[in-house]
Amino acid sequence: MYIKEAAVRLNTTPRAIRFYEEKGLIFPKKDKENDYRYFTENDVVRLSTILALREVGLGLERIKDLLENSEMSINEYLNLQRSALFEQWLELKDMITTIDQMIGSTEDEKDDMEAIFKLANQLKKLKDSRKNWEDKWEFDDWADEYENYIKKDGYVFNVHQDYDDALEKVAEVMELKHKSVCLDIGIGTGNLGSKFIARGVHVIGVDQSEKMLQTCNGKYPEIETRKGHFLALPLLDHSVDGIVSSYALHHLPDKDKLLALEEMNRVLKENGQICIADLMFQNEDHRSRVIDAFRSQGNIEAVQSIEDEFYGDRSLLVKWLEANSYQVETHQFNDILSMIYAKK
Ligand SMILES: C[S@@+](CC[C@H](N)C(=O)[O-])C[C@H]1O[C@@H](n2cnc3c(N)ncnc32)[C@H](O)[C@@H]1O
Repeated sequence: MYIKEAAVRLNTTPRAIRFYEEKGLIFPKKDKENDYRYFTENDVVRLSTILALREVGLGLERIKDLLENSEMSINEYLNLQRSALFEQWLELKDMITTIDQMIGSTEDEKDDMEAIFKLANQLKKLKDSRKNWEDKWEFDDWADEYENYIKKDGYVFNVHQDYDDALEKVAEVMELKHKSVCLDIGIGTGNLGSKFIARGVHVIGVDQSEKMLQTCNGKYPEIETRKGHFLALPLLDHSVDGIVSSYALHHLPDKDKLLALEEMNRVLKENGQICIADLMFQNEDHRSRVIDAFRSQGNIEAVQSIEDEFYGDRSLLVKWLEANSYQVETHQFNDILSMIYAKK
């Protein structure tokens, strides 16, 4: 078919089609006699893919990459695009909220520039937190060996002592009905999220590591995986019934843990539940006592492991949850492993 017909069929313009040709995304044959472009059915399918991906905001380079290099599937590209859009959306929301607050602070007689500047700084910090988290542990490299790693014993300091019990306990306390939606943040290879599959719960696993998500998918195809981050969850507001997370939150610095709770609160439905099993101390006093005890036993491995990550202060998380209308229960598995169960 010629360009006009292709354009009508795809609800676009000949100009747009020529643009994609100029950018090297499509290569219609040209009629030698009159130089008209001729589009085969395959060209039309390729064009419809380009148009669909452009419509959801994918850049030309990305699309070219996808069409030329089949290592990543369309699904994976779309997944990445969704995460990127959620990040942009959250940034816009933060900006709008700040503007509302700035307007509020100018409603008195005189403009309060000091307040405006303070709000702008708060916004800057928030943007930096959402964007600047780095995976210094390189979880992509762990994905294949993760199961062996957690089953190993013989460490001087075994962070996975009580791992199985903790995951069981989370699964036991979460009241989730058939067809409800449960989000597992930092799902890794799916060890916790998979415990809900048999109950007919729809599990969505979010992780910042592409490789972890691939391994999770391989083990549990029933789990829907989404690339994303504690501080920019790729989910709409009030869209999940329950949130679980195990051994993941301690990769966030303390200042960001409360922001992570805010994000959970944003995506959780009314009456929803959150359950976090993670490496944390009851409070700062408990942290000092435990670290001092390891030091006096000469267990330097323990002290260094704790310092390499961000073991939380449980009391701060509980305080935030209670202040935000959650009923909270806690459970202590051992000196470094705790669980928080919170119902809204
Ligand atoms: C130690 S593994 C735990 C995996 C699984 N939850 C479990 O209990 O076996 C930590 C996981 O959290 C993910 N993770 C760490 N920080 C994260 C963040 N800020 N946002 C999303 N995922 C994160 C890592 O990629 C990794 O898959």
